[in-house]
Amino acid sequence: MIVDKLGREIHDLRISITDRCNFRCVYCMPKEKFGRGYKFLARNQLLSFEEIERTVRLFAKLGVRKIRITGGEPMLRADLPDLVSLIASIDGIDDLSMTTNASLLTPEKAKTLRNAGLGRLNVSLDSLNDADFVSINDVGCSVSRVLSGIDALDSAGFKNTKVNMVVRKGTNESSILPMARHFYGSGHILRFIEYMDVGTTNEWKISEVVTATEIKEMIHSEMPLESLQPNYMGEVARRWKYVDGGGEIGIISSVTQPFCGNCSRARLSAVGKLYTCLFASDGFDIRELLRQSMSDAELLEAFAKIWMARDDRYSETRGKVPNQQKVEMSHIGG
Ligand code: GTP
Ligand code: 5AD
Ligand code: SF4
Ligand code: SF4
Repeated sequence: MIVDKLGREIHDLRISITDRCNFRCVYCMPKEKFGRGYKFLARNQLLSFEEIERTVRLFAKLGVRKIRITGGEPMLRADLPDLVSLIASIDGIDDLSMTTNASLLTPEKAKTLRNAGLGRLNVSLDSLNDADFVSINDVGCSVSRVLSGIDALDSAGFKNTKVNMVVRKGTNESSILPMARHFYGSGHILRFIEYMDVGTTNEWKISEVVTATEIKEMIHSEMPLESLQPNYMGEVARRWKYVDGGGEIGIISSVTQPFCGNCSRARLSAVGKLYTCLFASDGFDIRELLRQSMSDAELLEAFAKIWMARDDRYSETRGKVPNQQKVEMSHIGG
């Protein structure tokens, strides 16, 4: 087992497989920057499925047990189920999940992903109000389309589907209670995410953050909550359950209650850059290494070195270090 400079092991690898998305969420891929003229990555710049598979196999030897596929929107990548089955068959990987906006999910596609070995999914949905949701996704996607995507997951037999709501002050905080009410008792775990300063395009301001405490109190005053223990050390969301048995919610408080202390996540971008923090300025060019005909042993050593040199704890130092360049959400996948 390897540890970084702060004694943290590596358990998770999040893999972004495309920088494209069919949404233009205003806080992630605003149309002014990601419009018609924007140059998305070309096919040959992306890691191939074989390159991703080899990377995961080697990271599993270093201790990675959890893989999350992200984007952009991962369902835009052709032949996604093939990648899922490649990763699902790697020894040591016991949790394979994907984060998606769910707009492209059909019952057939959901079934195919499940048969390929995908374990579970997290679905992004920022509001239940159509006008608000459309003004966030900016491509006219209705709430019902995402809810149908979630239904498709249920009908394919997926369990423990989570729903992620990024809460941004002045945009969608009025959807907190309607979302809580809607998913109460549904078996889906709704998670509220403090709006974060990922990348630089969104020109994040701290005044746009609704804090985890505010979110919790808002829900608790109508639907009493009690705290739950984490499922495992280093879990991103703080867990809460409805006292009357209505199920569980989570709150992700990267801004007001950072959780870098046991952060065990590495991130691989679609071009094969390995980042040791969501807020890193730059990553390590794994694609270059993979394409250099290095042996597995040499690659393993290179990956281990990168992790062992890691001392990232951005959320704990936010605002205390000078503003740095940060990789965009659509490249690093959250
Ligand atoms: P689970 O394995 O289901 O708990 O998934 P997850 O919460 O790790 O992944 P998901 O893609 O659903 O991300 C939810 C939110 O947590 C997103 O806003 C991510 O950007 C954020 N997040 C995930 N990991 C980290 C992290 O290491 N640091 C910070 N600051 N945010 C993170
Ligand atoms: N802050 C917090 N979460 C974000 N996401 C996208 N941008 C941000 C941000 N600035 C969420 C997406 C998705 C997850 C991977 O990250 O909605 O659910
Ligand atoms: Fe696409 Fe997710 Fe970014 Fe929205 S937040 S533009 S759905 S990648
Ligand atoms: Fe990990 Fe960086 Fe997030 Fe801290 S800010 S939890 S180090 S990814």
